[in-house]
Amino acid sequence: MPAVPALNIPANSAIAQPEFLMGVATASYQIEGAADEDGRLQSIWDTYCDEPGRVLHGDTGDVACDHYHRWEADVDLIAGLGVDAYRLSIAWPRVMDEQGVPNAKGINFYKKLLDALKAKGVQTYVTLYHWDLPQHLQDRGGWASRETAYAFAAYADLMSRELAGKVTAWATLNEPWCSAYLGYGIGRHAPGVTDLRQTTQALHHLLLGHGLALAKIRANDPGALRGIVCNTGVFGPQTDSAADKDAAYLAYVQQNYWVFDPLMLGSYPKDMFRLWPGTEPLVLPGDMETISTPMDFLGINYYFRTVVETDGKGGYKEAPHSDKVERTQMGWEVYPKGLTEILVDFNARYPDLPPIYITENGMASDDSVSDGSVADPQRIRFLENHLMAVNDAIKAGVDVRGYFIWSLMDNFEWAYGYERRFGITHVDYTTQVRTPKHSSLAVQAFLQQRKRPQ
Ligand code: NOJ
Repeated sequence: MPAVPALNIPANSAIAQPEFLMGVATASYQIEGAADEDGRLQSIWDTYCDEPGRVLHGDTGDVACDHYHRWEADVDLIAGLGVDAYRLSIAWPRVMDEQGVPNAKGINFYKKLLDALKAKGVQTYVTLYHWDLPQHLQDRGGWASRETAYAFAAYADLMSRELAGKVTAWATLNEPWCSAYLGYGIGRHAPGVTDLRQTTQALHHLLLGHGLALAKIRANDPGALRGIVCNTGVFGPQTDSAADKDAAYLAYVQQNYWVFDPLMLGSYPKDMFRLWPGTEPLVLPGDMETISTPMDFLGINYYFRTVVETDGKGGYKEAPHSDKVERTQMGWEVYPKGLTEILVDFNARYPDLPPIYITENGMASDDSVSDGSVADPQRIRFLENHLMAVNDAIKAGVDVRGYFIWSLMDNFEWAYGYERRFGITHVDYTTQVRTPKHSSLAVQAFLQQRKRPQ
C-alpha cells in the first residue's frame, strides 16, 4: 500500500495541538444491524424502510455494518486510528420494553462497548436519540405527542443510571431539526409524515424532552458533560434581489435559529412563523425554561451550503445547481467557509454559548477498493479545509474544543441506503470487511505526528 501523507494541517494551528479533541462518529441504526436480537423492539426506521419507495434500493438497517456482533474488532479499529474520542448512539428500542422495563441484554451491549473503549483510552460521546424511536411510541403520536418527551426523559434517566461513570459526554438528541422537519414536515425520514403543524409541535417536544433529560443526567451522572447535537447550514441568495436575500435569510432562520434560539435564548424566532404562518406550537408554562437549561457543551454538525431563491410567495426554494462549484456524492456543495461563518455568527448571537464540539463533518464519495486500498483524495482535502475553517473560527474567538469525522465507516445513509459512502473506512457489505481509506491513513498519520513533542 503506498504511504499516505498526514493531513496537511500546520503544526502551529490550534487544531494541531494535542488538547484539541479529535474523534470519529457513528449512530446505532446506521451500523448495528441485529434488528431482531436480544429483545430489540421495532423502531420507526424499521417500519419506514419496509415501506416501498422510501429508501433507495429498498435498503434497510437489518444488518448494516453488523457492528452488534463485530463491536470488538470495531473498537480496535477506532483505537488504531489514534483518535481521542468516539461518538456513538444508543438504540432506545434495545434497552427498554413497551412498559419501560429495562432490557438487560441490550443495556449490557453498551456497557461492554463503553468499557472496552475506556480500556483503550478512548473517550466516549454518547447520543441518546439518533432517530430510532420505538415504534410503539410513534403509534401513540410520536414526537407530535407531549407524552414522548416524558418517555424520553424516563429513557434518559434509565441510561444515565445504568451507564454512569462510563460516559465522557452525553448528548440528548442528534439533529432535532431532522427529526422534526424531515420526519414530520416533508416525510423524507421516518415516520414519513407531511404536516407543518405537527413539525413545529414535534420540535417543541423534542426540545422539551432534551431539557427534561438534562436534569436526569445531571442527577445520575454528575461527572459527565451534558449537551445536545444540532445540524446547521448556510445559504446563499441566487441573485442580489431583495426577495432572494430575504429567501436566504428565512432559510437560515429555519435551519438554524428555529432550533438554537429556544435552546440558547428560551424563545422561538418570530420569523419562523412568518415563513410558516399559523404553525406556532402549543407551549405550556415552564417549557421554555426547561428547554433553555444551561449545558456544558453544544455539538454542531455542518456539511454544506445551499443556494436559494424566492418562491414568489414569501418563502424560499432551492435554486438550480450551478456546475461551477465542487460537490460530493450527495450533490452537496463543498463550502468550508460556511463552518467558520456559522460559528462566528452563533458566538455573536448567543451570549451564553457553551464550548462547542463539531460533532459531525465529512463527505460521501463513491469509493471502492482497488488492490487492497481505497483512494479518496477529495475527502482528504475536505477534512483539511474544514479543520482549517474551525481553526479560523478559533482565531476569531470562538471556543471550539474538538472535531468528529462523520463517519468511522461507511454505513446506512438513511433514505439513501448504502449507496452513499461517508466512511473513512470502506465497508464491503457482502463480506463485512473493513478497509481503511487513504483518508483514514492520513488522519492516523496526523494524529501520530501531533502527539510528537515539537
Ligand atoms: C447527519 C446525521 O446525524 C447522520 O446520521 C448522517 O449520516 C450524516 N448527517 C450524513 O448525512
